[in-house]
Amino acid sequence: MGFKVAVVGATGNVGREMLNILAERAFPADEVVALASRRSLGTEVSFGDATLKSKDLETYDFSDTDLCLMSAGSAVAKEWAPRIGAKGCVVIDNSSCWRYDANVPLVVPEVNADAVAGFTSKMIIANPNCSTAQLVVALKPLHDRFVIKRVVVATYQSVSGAGKEAMDELFSQTRAVFVTDPIEPKRFPKRIAFNLIPQIDVFMEDGYTKEEWKMMVETKKILDPKIKLTATCVRVPVFVAHSEAVNIEFEKPVSAEEARDLLRSAPGCLVVDKHEAGGYVTPYEAAGEDATYISRIREDITVENGLSMWIVSDNLRKGAALNAIQIAESLVNRKLLQAKKRAA
Ligand SMILES: NC(=O)c1ccc[n+]([C@@H]2O[C@H](COP(=O)([O-])OP(=O)(O)OC[C@H]3O[C@@H](n4cnc5c(N)ncnc54)[C@H](OP(=O)(O)O)[C@@H]3O)[C@@H](O)[C@H]2O)c1
Repeated sequence: MGFKVAVVGATGNVGREMLNILAERAFPADEVVALASRRSLGTEVSFGDATLKSKDLETYDFSDTDLCLMSAGSAVAKEWAPRIGAKGCVVIDNSSCWRYDANVPLVVPEVNADAVAGFTSKMIIANPNCSTAQLVVALKPLHDRFVIKRVVVATYQSVSGAGKEAMDELFSQTRAVFVTDPIEPKRFPKRIAFNLIPQIDVFMEDGYTKEEWKMMVETKKILDPKIKLTATCVRVPVFVAHSEAVNIEFEKPVSAEEARDLLRSAPGCLVVDKHEAGGYVTPYEAAGEDATYISRIREDITVENGLSMWIVSDNLRKGAALNAIQIAESLVNRKLLQAKKRAA
């Protein structure tokens, strides 16, 4: 018997991608239910060759649902994840609401798949922030071999990371520039078309933004609390896929060639690193793909045991939907997800 799976936020960027990936990877589901707010009642979303009509989260009964993939923001996750968990349904949540709870595992399967077993205390597993997921996939094999001391990251994050309204804002502002209409930022603090914005999420007291803080805290929780990380997160006028310029300091000596070889065989990683014009991956090429692409791997001669590299991945897939479904697959593979008995 297969599982009954609910996707909460099914009309959103991440939710739609979750439905695509569940179908693509033939997740063992007997039934998939699309849920969103009442506003979207009856909205059609694609699931493989089928079309699902979105139902209202408020009135849905989770009693016979086994797994809930949730991507509807923190407020919805805060209220609903415990209620859904209390019905015996395992929740994999994409928001930041549960990520820092000591009783909720934060999982990137290429890095810490075994941590999924810790879901039993709250019936919730958290998915990391999009920029963290692709970073730790690339850092993990390097950390295992050369031991990372410090990471300095600058991100170049696409607008889809801020939801479907943010994508519309980039589109409409770009159009407005060409037809000389006035531009009024709504979802972003400044104009995003033909510009970039060095602020993602709110400011913290120490001058970092919450997005930068998330990357630091999540890397420690998923990979190793001893790793020091500092980030500058920047929103750029790209629709899909986040890029990161990453500088890493290791305890042990490392060459660019050794790192390249190691990353070539590492799970989830794809090295594209030719020293010629265009011999690297850009966000446009990573959009719609599953891999974390690593390019521009080179030794940093200004520090001992240092490397610099360029990491690109589709934020809606590895950064969100794909990672969530890989977590679900980790549960299934470890026989930690049980299908409930349902009326025939
Ligand atoms: N985009 C990324 O790269 C990324 C990466 C990692 C994590 N995340 C997280 O994933 C979540 C969703 O992101 P997104 O980009 O998919 O946003 P989005 O495109 O704005 O979609 C939001 C979804 O949530 C639903 N929703 C909102 N309020 C609801 C409510 N009260 N009850 C039920 N459903 C509700 C919306 O339904 P309606 O259409 O009915 O409003 C929609 O389906 C966020 O927590 C985000 O932080 C996103």
